[in-house]
Amino acid sequence: MAPPAHPEEAVSETAPTPSTPRAASTTPGRVVALHPDGDARGELATGELVRVPGGVPGDVGAFTITHRGKNATWARLAEVTTPSPDRVAAPCPVVAECGGCPWQMVAPAAQREARLAFLREGLGDALAEATVHPTVTSQAPGGYRTRALMVLRHVGGALRLGFYAPRTNDLVPAEGCAVQHPRLNAALAAARDVLAKTDLATWRSEDRPGHIRALAMKLDPTTGDGLLTLVVTRDDPRFDRLAPLLQAIPGVAGVHLCRNDAPAGPLLSGAARRLSGASRLTLHLGAVTVQVGPLAFVQTHHAVAAAMIDAVLELAPAAVAHVADLYAGVGVFGLALRDRAGAVTLVEASPDATRDARANASRLPGAAHVKVVEGDAAALAAGVLRGGADELVVLDPPRAGCRPEVLAAVAAKRPGTLIYASCSPRSLARDAAALNEAGYVLRDLVPLEMFPHTPHLEVVAKLTLR
Ligand SMILES: C[S@@+](CC[C@H](N)C(=O)[O-])C[C@H]1O[C@@H](n2cnc3c(N)ncnc32)[C@H](O)[C@@H]1O
Repeated sequence: MAPPAHPEEAVSETAPTPSTPRAASTTPGRVVALHPDGDARGELATGELVRVPGGVPGDVGAFTITHRGKNATWARLAEVTTPSPDRVAAPCPVVAECGGCPWQMVAPAAQREARLAFLREGLGDALAEATVHPTVTSQAPGGYRTRALMVLRHVGGALRLGFYAPRTNDLVPAEGCAVQHPRLNAALAAARDVLAKTDLATWRSEDRPGHIRALAMKLDPTTGDGLLTLVVTRDDPRFDRLAPLLQAIPGVAGVHLCRNDAPAGPLLSGAARRLSGASRLTLHLGAVTVQVGPLAFVQTHHAVAAAMIDAVLELAPAAVAHVADLYAGVGVFGLALRDRAGAVTLVEASPDATRDARANASRLPGAAHVKVVEGDAAALAAGVLRGGADELVVLDPPRAGCRPEVLAAVAAKRPGTLIYASCSPRSLARDAAALNEAGYVLRDLVPLEMFPHTPHLEVVAKLTLR
């Protein structure tokens, strides 16, 4: 199964079009709340509770049951008779088909309130001794993404860019994207136009293989420059001939090729090769400047990523003997903390990100005491952690949260302070409960609006030993 093009914002349902004419079999009802999976909860006049894609709390209207599942019934909002005061026009014309940003029709303040409520609900008693700090809000709810990945596909003879529809590898063609930075939209469209003049076939599935699959780009919004990456199934000298045309696109600082012929899994993985221009993109993220290559992780939202580093610095102790930054990426947190520590160890599984982290550590002043280790945090944590009150462990795992071995290593070594950066309040709640068992108390939480128009929330949390 192909991944959705916005992996962080993937949701389980497709939103309806609220203006669909009323069908014969409708039931009156209202939307009562948002749901953490990206849709909304509704209550029909019959008393039946339903899940409503595209609903906004406060909407009153007519609902059509679309699916009765084991745990929930789904309904389409066939007609909105009285729109919620929080209903706004969705800026994206393919909001219903793409599914990447399911809350676009919800006013930003109501989105924010719901995300915070889900965080509080999820963490429950774990918050008893915690201060929840004000949410760091996104100044630009539209055009905020400074990292993009769009699928390429021939549709009716024309080369189109778009996103995978939820849980399929069907293309939802899109001319740009309302949440991507305009510079990314323009550069990706220009790159698509270059490729459209070739006879390179697009990949559809294992049964219908092709040569080109997707375009990705990371952007520094402060300079307008970015790294463009063409995802292909196999290398070919034609890509070298196309490189000057792609490099000439405004905003393209470097052009890279990523070879990935795996039918499933993340598109932007495999082997990368530089075709022209810059090898890495320089990003000034608040207190730290890093360079990042085409395949290494970088946060989706540049301004909020910088605020996240500020939050980590705010919550971290002023001086420690050792910082262990597990799931380190290109090293943003560990490197930002280098002046506060006698030693810093970065652990990262991706060879590409590890290479970038090593280059960053060797380039930055005052980072001679930073060691970068490539490997699985689950296998390495027990060996890397030194333990004791003057150790700070930074955890910033993928959405699934920390592996149990990592939590077990923390429980065994008992470092004094943990900073846990999470993009999933559910995983954070599970891991915080396990850490609580080991004697850690959640002290502070800083919510950050990394993904406007989605239910997802980034959180930086501080835990200390009781
Ligand atoms: C959410 S990103 C955070 C990266 C970094 N802290 C940042 O903010 O840019 C998670 C990182 O963990 C890495 N990763 C995933 N699984 C891992 C594992 N089992 N062990 C170590 N690193 C892992 C990913 O490659 C990715 O760079």
